[in-house]
Amino acid sequence: MKKLSLSLIAIAALAVGASTAAFADAEGLLKTSKCTKCHAADKDKSGPSWKKVAEKYKGKADAEAKLFTHVTTGPKVKIDGEEETHAKIKSTDEAAIKEVIGFILKH
Ligand code: HEC
Repeated sequence: MKKLSLSLIAIAALAVGASTAAFADAEGLLKTSKCTKCHAADKDKSGPSWKKVAEKYKGKADAEAKLFTHVTTGPKVKIDGEEETHAKIKSTDEAAIKEVIGFILKH
């Protein structure tokens, strides 16, 4: 079943090539922006897992807007009890940032 769904994804990927490439970019951007230092797919590090973030925003219409602000404005967050400025994504390309948010919310 897993194989089947993977190949379906592959077919979908061929059909809309650009969007899969964008998700690969999204993961790359998360790495180069050092987000992965504090966030992982389904394990909490200093920051919540992407899964938790996705759950928190599930079904919320303003999810994208809220997270866009979160990752572009460097809000103050508590990290291990200390107030710190949250990291900003290292891109000013709105489409790329939205891909990252889409990637996070897919977890
Ligand atoms: C030094 C650790 C650290 C780094 C680096 C970091 N984060 Fe976070 N992040 C946190 C913490 C802690 C929270 C929880 C903040 C809170 O709930 O107040 C958080 C929360 C979030 C949330 C959820 C916000 C919400 O409204 O619930 C998102 C999305 C997020 N981070 C994305 C990113 C992205 C994208 C990057 C890279 C540009 C990044 N983080 C880098 C620590 C970090």
